[in-house]
Amino acid sequence: MIRMLAIETSCDETAAAVVEDGRRILSNVVASQVELHARYGGVFPELASRAHIEAIVPVVQEALRTAHLGWGEIDAIAVTYGPGLPGSLLVGVNFAKGAAFGRGLPLVAVNHLEGHIYAHWLETGGEEAAEGRLDFPLIVLVVSGGHTELVLMRGEMDYVRLGGTLDDAAGEAFDKVARMLHLGYPGGPPIEKAARQGNPHAFELPRAWLGNSYDFSFSGLKTAVLRALRPYGDHRPPRLVADMAASFQAAVVEVLATKSARAAKAYGATAILLSGGVSANRALRRAVREAASVPVYALPLAFCTDNAAMIAAAGTRRYRAGERASRTLDIAPGLQLV
Ligand code: KG4
Ligand code: ZN
Repeated sequence: MIRMLAIETSCDETAAAVVEDGRRILSNVVASQVELHARYGGVFPELASRAHIEAIVPVVQEALRTAHLGWGEIDAIAVTYGPGLPGSLLVGVNFAKGAAFGRGLPLVAVNHLEGHIYAHWLETGGEEAAEGRLDFPLIVLVVSGGHTELVLMRGEMDYVRLGGTLDDAAGEAFDKVARMLHLGYPGGPPIEKAARQGNPHAFELPRAWLGNSYDFSFSGLKTAVLRALRPYGDHRPPRLVADMAASFQAAVVEVLATKSARAAKAYGATAILLSGGVSANRALRRAVREAASVPVYALPLAFCTDNAAMIAAAGTRRYRAGERASRTLDIAPGLQLV
């Protein structure tokens, strides 16, 4: 049995978790900084870093306490070393190095994107979750505030990157359009809510198909929304907000769903896994299910967004494969999945 303590500080959540055998969640603590960044309409890196410094010790203590474990019962530590914000990653990596070498525990470096993927192997109790009952090959769509990646997973820790965003991440597009609609930050949840009352055909917005590629682009869509809003000046009547939210969401979701389904067919995937904050979106889940002819799995909200349990899940695979980080482990802000 492996009891992994994992630490995640790549963006704006300070998170720690204890997970058994990469599967059973003994604790999963997340200190969110959403309120801190809300007034800036996005993550403010210096503030994020300082908030991680304040939160890291209590968050780790809370993770051990709720797992009813002492340091002596932890077998290894996993930490996110990239991709992410440099000042944020540094806090988690330095804490993890100090704890691991101070206590003589092995340390495993984890790619944040691999964490989002291995969240699907956790026992989350989610109704739409696979919980590891999966056969390769798989298609994984990672859509968050920082990432939009379409990945072919051929086996354990074996990935081919099929495509990704050429400009904004999907979540970033939701956040920017929410701001244009005066909906606040983060923008995904209020857009999804407003869209339920709106007409998705009210505005004709572009879909960037980019030929047959598996890449994505959302900047043209964002500009089109801005242009369509111009006649309204600063006015945002509820009908306009609902119709624009619905039209925008439909454009994003259609491209994500169509390309994920096409990739699943092309590579003979047995299922599609949806990861990242944007995968909380019900319209996205529905659209991928309608477009695909294989099962589509999605996670409970707390496991779509950043958390440390998913880092433990990925870290346990790396640990079992014999990977160990050295004392000189550095952050890798621009790290790619492959
Ligand atoms: O995975 P995450 O918590 O952080 C990153 O690693 O970036 O994702 C946050 C992103 C934000 O951009 C947020 O607007 C988006 O996920 N998001 C959603 C929804 N809930 C969160 N986007 C669309 N629909 C949602 N329901
Ligand atoms: Zn993330």
